[in-house]
Amino acid sequence: MHTKAFLAALLAPAVVSAQLNDLAVRAGLKYFGTALREGAINSDSAYAAILSDKKEFGQLVPENGQKWDATEATRGTFTYASGDITANKAKANGQGLRCHTMVWYSQLPSWVSGGTWTKTTLQSVIETHMSNVMGHYLGQCYAWDVINEAVTDDGAWRDNVFLKTFGTDYFALAFNAAKKVDPNTKLYYNDYNLEYNGAKATKALELVSIVKAAGAPIDGVGFQGHLIVGSTPSRSSLATVLKRFTALGVEVAYTELDIRHSSLPASTAAQVTQGNDFANVVGSCLDVTGCVGVTVWSFTDKYSWVPETFSGAGDALIYDKSFNKKVAWTSISSVLAAKATGNPVVTPGTTLATITTSAAATSSAAVTPAPVSSTKSSTAVVPTSTATTPIAEAAHWAQCGGNGWTGATACQSPWTCKYSNAWYSQCL
Ligand code: G3I
Repeated sequence: MHTKAFLAALLAPAVVSAQLNDLAVRAGLKYFGTALREGAINSDSAYAAILSDKKEFGQLVPENGQKWDATEATRGTFTYASGDITANKAKANGQGLRCHTMVWYSQLPSWVSGGTWTKTTLQSVIETHMSNVMGHYLGQCYAWDVINEAVTDDGAWRDNVFLKTFGTDYFALAFNAAKKVDPNTKLYYNDYNLEYNGAKATKALELVSIVKAAGAPIDGVGFQGHLIVGSTPSRSSLATVLKRFTALGVEVAYTELDIRHSSLPASTAAQVTQGNDFANVVGSCLDVTGCVGVTVWSFTDKYSWVPETFSGAGDALIYDKSFNKKVAWTSISSVLAAKATGNPVVTPGTTLATITTSAAATSSAAVTPAPVSSTKSSTAVVPTSTATTPIAEAAHWAQCGGNGWTGATACQSPWTCKYSNAWYSQCL
């Protein structure tokens, strides 16, 4: 090839796919993922097709299949049929897997919650559960939620069989037991309403400190992100609370994001507000070093725990019940694309009204989404990028290896590339 042509080819900017996981990775996150509803995946081909598209969702998490009541409903009898649905889909599609959840007061069989325990017997029950279930998924999970929802909304320790038996010693006990089974997965504490940066977030910080002070391993804190349209904190407030956690040396992620309308049907204005709320949440993750990814708690309004739990509320997700992309999808796509490319997003065929310039990455209202009617056929095209020069060395927290990884494999000093699992290594 002629030298000039060769150089031009080398320097030619790549076209970025406009799908959410591709954009998220391009913007510096590890993944954009979704929960999988076990009861829908084999009966709804439209649902399965979108969920299986790795460009859209880079990581899956079982909505219910790995919980204690699904895996060990009867003491000592382990069942993986439901959990394996998600693990097998992720494997077949080349997607990552988040694993959810171990020690939780809910969806806990009554033989555990209602049992009579000493510290020794309950510790053995926890360790047996972990060695079986985490052992079954060994090497497959990017992260495990080791403890889920141990704090109440008003900032107290949640009263449950674990607290009753061990006091707060069960925190370190659970993380130590998990590490013993799977030394390579990320071990997370996971909870909701941390986003509001109140007493609950402060107590969760205390939990992280207790685990660390006991010399036990904790790698991450999951912000579930079950939020409400119009009451979602601003992008900068969200970044502030994320940073309170990363300051303790743990990574953070949004693990169960949905933003519900309080009443239905949602007006056009409410859908725009929902889009801005989603953009602020995703944007806050982009703004915080150590925020690794975003998972939506199912992606379609067709399958969501919200209307099943909050009567009259719903439509909390990014695709509607007929699998059309909503304003919220466009908003997320836009805020990711702005960060990924440093450019405004171009969306032919839509009227995406305002895309902020490079300030999009730091503004609190990054995107004014398109009117509802224009989003159905939205296939946002991200402009060719000028930010495609390969980075020779990955930064602190960044990915530096794993199946399918094509980026830098060396880390900036003083960080080294540490193997986590088959799907990724990280600069730590
Ligand atoms: O398995 C039974 C099935 O046999 C029965 O026919 C059916 C009838 O209602 O119920 C099924 O159980 C349901 C289960 O999901 C599995 O589908 C329960 O009723 C239902 O309450 C349960 O809800 C789940 C909820 O956790 C339980 O707490 C939701 O799907 C799930 O989205 C939700 O997820 C939680 C996260 O794990 C933790 N954070 C909060 C989040 C939302 O609550």
